[in-house]
Amino acid sequence: MLYLKNLVYHPAATPTAILKQINLELAPQQIGLVIGPSGSGKSTLLEMLAGLVEPTAGQIFWREQELTDVHLQQLSGLVFQFPERHFCGGSVLEELRLGHPELKAEQINRALQEVGLAHLPLHTSPESLSGGQQRRLALAVQLIRQPYLLLLDEPTAGLDWSMRRQLVNLLAKLKADWSLLVVTHDAGELLAIADRCWTLDHGKLQSIDPNLLRAKAEQPPDSSFSAGSIR
Ligand SMILES: Nc1ncnc2c1ncn2[C@@H]1O[C@H](COP(=O)(O)OP(=O)(O)OP(=O)(O)O)[C@@H](O)[C@H]1O
Ligand SMILES: [Mg+2]
Repeated sequence: MLYLKNLVYHPAATPTAILKQINLELAPQQIGLVIGPSGSGKSTLLEMLAGLVEPTAGQIFWREQELTDVHLQQLSGLVFQFPERHFCGGSVLEELRLGHPELKAEQINRALQEVGLAHLPLHTSPESLSGGQQRRLALAVQLIRQPYLLLLDEPTAGLDWSMRRQLVNLLAKLKADWSLLVVTHDAGELLAIADRCWTLDHGKLQSIDPNLLRAKAEQPPDSSFSAGSIR
């Protein structure tokens, strides 16, 4: 269970806090979805949970244990927005082994299997993969470290409809073994697989019933509400 208690991020340079008294609970084998417009603090929240940004106040717990940034770096696997822009390996194998030369072939195969890329020759260049395959590879890079918590920043951004569907199906499958926290400005297909939902607006997080969002998303397009544009 991930548990955030009154988490605040307020760098000295900004007039108001970027994250304001965030409270959040996410159980194992759940997908949590944070929906918020650009600049609302989504990526900052994930960076904090990945141990890359130190909270100004508040606490982060995993079960009963309060976590430091070092714990968080071990516990979490963060997939950045457009992860393919950060690939540095010349091949799929190199990409997976970056920083982990000790990894055995078996672990590498398992991670690729997990994301449906087991059929790829390991010498394939990451640049030559399709957009959806690149996202899968970026996920495998994190899964290979066996994190408890997968953090995904706009995982479906820039993918076409069919690749989005494939990725959403994959995330639903990964839920069997991991807790996932996904942030997005456009819930879209991700709504279908979310167990918990929150809106984030100017750093304020509010819980919202995913069933309510799903019902509203199914309303005709001329309805005044759209799940993709929650404010
Ligand atoms: N270290 C920092 N110092 C000052 N301001 C920051 C810092 N980090 C983030 N911000 C500001 O905090 C706000 C939230 O940024 P963040 O990148 O988390 O938003 P976001 O919801 O991920 O937006 P997008 O959807 O565009 O990716 C922005 O106004 C950003 O400029
Ligand atoms: Mg962002």
